[in-house]
Amino acid sequence: MSLRLGDIVPDFTAQTTEGEISFHEYLGDGWGVLFSHPADYTPVCTTELGKTALLKHEFEKRNVKVLAVSVDPLDKHLLWRNDINETQHCSVDFPIIADPDKKVATLYDMIHPNASETFTVRSLFIIGPDKKLKLSLTYPASTGRNFHEVIRVIDSLQLTAKYSVATPADWKNGEDVIVAISVSTEDAIKKFDKGVRVVKPYLRYTPQPDI
Ligand code: BEZ
Repeated sequence: MSLRLGDIVPDFTAQTTEGEISFHEYLGDGWGVLFSHPADYTPVCTTELGKTALLKHEFEKRNVKVLAVSVDPLDKHLLWRNDINETQHCSVDFPIIADPDKKVATLYDMIHPNASETFTVRSLFIIGPDKKLKLSLTYPASTGRNFHEVIRVIDSLQLTAKYSVATPADWKNGEDVIVAISVSTEDAIKKFDKGVRVVKPYLRYTPQPDI
């Protein structure tokens, strides 16, 4: 069965380009992003892993560890990584999991047989410090993901985990947020000292509380 939001994500041990890892232990008490790519030595995947490496500091700032996975073996990952670094002008130093027996791909339901019997789709999971699934997305092999969007979602998840707020459509870090519907307007006015703008009784904005 596929993973659902709020589920504890499966643990596993695997060989990676950074050595053997135990997934839950590796994440520690931070956040994680686990994403699959269909195959090594393919163009879209090359750009995705390069972009992830270039965003290293953005992930680190947010206490997020990133891991990629594909069903190719470790020796192939290690050689392909040189190409990624060369062509994308980066230095990939996050783990790329070797999954030739499809253990991780199966645990995370990354193979969608009607798309491909052999390769994973582009799955991406954001995992919270409680090891629970906070977001999942699935892209086809032909469409590279937007890693700025992944970071934007992490910002929203980390903010909404701390404050009684939600983030509106297209929200970006620093913009006004929405008061959670569980909070009455009376309580919101007491809680959010930067002010509350009431548009409708169910639509109340407040400046982002942590800046
Ligand atoms: C790619 O990364 O470019 C790719 C991989 C598998 C199928 C199609 C495209």
